[in-house]
Amino acid sequence: MRKLKIAAAVLGLLGLVAMAPRAQAAGIADTKHNLSTTGTGTIHVSGGTNPTTEICVFCHTPHGADTAVEAPLWNRAVTTTGYTPYSSPSLDSIPGQPTGASIACLSCHAGDIAFDALRNLPGSGGFSDSPSKDGTSAWTFVGTSDKKMPDGITKLGMDLSNDHPISMLYAAAKSPSSTSGVNDHDTGFKAPSEAISSTGDTYFANGLKLSKGYVQCTSCHDPHRSAPLFLRHSDNNGNVGSQICLTCHKKDA
Ligand code: HEC
Ligand code: HEC
Ligand code: HEC
Ligand code: HEC
Repeated sequence: MRKLKIAAAVLGLLGLVAMAPRAQAAGIADTKHNLSTTGTGTIHVSGGTNPTTEICVFCHTPHGADTAVEAPLWNRAVTTTGYTPYSSPSLDSIPGQPTGASIACLSCHAGDIAFDALRNLPGSGGFSDSPSKDGTSAWTFVGTSDKKMPDGITKLGMDLSNDHPISMLYAAAKSPSSTSGVNDHDTGFKAPSEAISSTGDTYFANGLKLSKGYVQCTSCHDPHRSAPLFLRHSDNNGNVGSQICLTCHKKDA
């Protein structure tokens, strides 16, 4: 009898849990990368002619994409030269001009290209294979006066010398670990869980990745992920315990 009551109570509780309204799963729509009129970030389309509710269009197009950019079906104007890369006396994997998907990120985060500098605007026509870097739409935006990234920490600028290096070959990096005095790759850096591919993505166990063996913005960030700061690995609130950094660097042992 007592057992039955407990079982009934447990079932009742389970029922309540099942009935409780499920928290709305967060997606890209709830992030700062929703630049459409439904965006909730500081910067998004507010009005103008045919303002759009499309989210993906600010980065991707189903047709007429720029295949020179290493981000799939890319819809934005890009800048490929004129950046100042990171450098230091202890750096071994000397990065040059940005490559890979980092160029896609920098098409907004360098601040030189308008958010609406798109190859293919929503709707019929509206295509250009050389979109103006000052923008191609008749939309107005909130949070920016010139449709470009406003000054602040999210605008990396063309000078990347004050940012973690990108676009360098992981295997070329050298560093001593916390316990070793030797400056080579294996002492200073951890191996991903799979063999490093020179043609595709290679993942670390926690979701960080190398692309064609290179560190890119997308090694640490996934532009669609609603996790804090779009980080690929994030427990609770971002770079907990510096786990992002310790994925690659042997500064823990
Ligand atoms: C702010 C720019 C941005 C927006 C907005 C965006 N993407 Fe992406 N997307 C990227 C970039 C950059 C990559 C390449 C990522 C990489 O190499 O890790 C990518 C890659 C992808 C990929 C292939 C690899 C992957 O990560 O899954 C798919 C599929 C994709 N995007 C779909 C979408 C869809 C669907 C939307 C709209 C709901 C969208 N994206 C919105 C920037 C964006
Ligand atoms: C279409 C333009 C666009 C592209 C492309 C883009 N971003 Fe962003 N990103 C934004 C805007 C706008 C913000 C919000 C800036 C602000 O409010 O200061 C933002 C914010 C961020 C933030 C801060 C998020 C937060 O919660 O504070 C990160 C991190 C970020 N982007 C990384 C990336 C990376 C990495 C890529 C490439 C994979 C990328 N972005 C591509 C427009 C873009
Ligand atoms: C090695 C890992 C790594 C790489 C590579 C990287 N980031 Fe980040 N990024 C981070 C971490 C970790 C944070 C969170 C820092 C913090 O908590 O302030 C961050 C924060 C940001 C922010 C938000 C800054 C703020 O305080 O609001 C932006 C924007 C951003 N990254 C863009 C980029 C872009 C664009 C690239 C490529 C040019 C890039 N990141 C490359 C690890 C990385
Ligand atoms: C995806 C792997 C990866 C992640 C994640 C990563 N790094 Fe790095 N980091 C590198 C590589 C590769 C280099 C280049 C080292 C070299 O060539 O000597 C580097 C360079 C550096 C340098 C400059 C070294 C020098 O000699 O000038 C510092 C400092 C650094 N990382 C700190 C961090 C911090 C802090 C974090 C976390 C926010 C982080 N890294 C995350 C791979 C990574």
